[in-house]
Amino acid sequence: MDSRLEQFLAQKGLFFVGKIDRGHSSLVFLVQDDKAGKMVAKMERADSTRFKMAEREAENLKKANSVGIGPKLLAKDLKARIILMEFVDGPSFSDWLFSGPDKKTLKKFVEELERQAKALDKIGLDHGQLAGRGKNILVRDGKPVIIDFEKASSKRKCHNFSVVQGFLFRNPNGTIAKKVGEILGEAEASVFSKGC
Ligand SMILES: Nc1ncnc2c1ncn2[C@@H]1O[C@H](COP(=O)(O)OP(=O)(O)O)[C@@H](O)[C@H]1O
Ligand SMILES: [Mg+2]
Repeated sequence: MDSRLEQFLAQKGLFFVGKIDRGHSSLVFLVQDDKAGKMVAKMERADSTRFKMAEREAENLKKANSVGIGPKLLAKDLKARIILMEFVDGPSFSDWLFSGPDKKTLKKFVEELERQAKALDKIGLDHGQLAGRGKNILVRDGKPVIIDFEKASSKRKCHNFSVVQGFLFRNPNGTIAKKVGEILGEAEASVFSKGC
């Protein structure tokens, strides 16, 4: 195991459970302690070319948490380049969508995702990677939990809501938009896509 991770876990009284993912700039691990249960440790890779990923993610996640969005930030160790956060036990949005939720369930999900996107717009935090393959949105108990704030920014123009709209309803080549349209029905999807 990486010595940075090993030290961090020992300091916090945590145990390694397993590796969740390996991305371009980070490694994501499932860890655990005796009382609080499972948590996620996201560690900046030593060869990461992203500037100050751990600082940025910690700062942005904290802002998102201030309006109840994202997994709760539990700790950060900027020397070890690791942040510790709540574990979201659920599939990615795309896996969940293609498992075929019913119309009512998807409608509720979409309403809540739109609400969260607007809340992020309101505090001026642009997530930056909400669209794509739907991997940065996890689904817990039918509700969206937005993750991966490492490329979020308070300096960019905020357009979370319009990005979510395009991703869910308008992207003409998007398998996601197509599936959403199939489940909600074209008429309903177009009413939704007009937003508030
Ligand atoms: N808090 C979390 N709870 C559960 N799984 C998570 C959590 N954070 C990240 N993951 C998992 O790890 C993957 C990579 O994390 P992410 O923050 O998106 O990093 P990357 O910058 O590498 O995309 C996610 O797609 C998700 O499967
Ligand atoms: Mg990601």
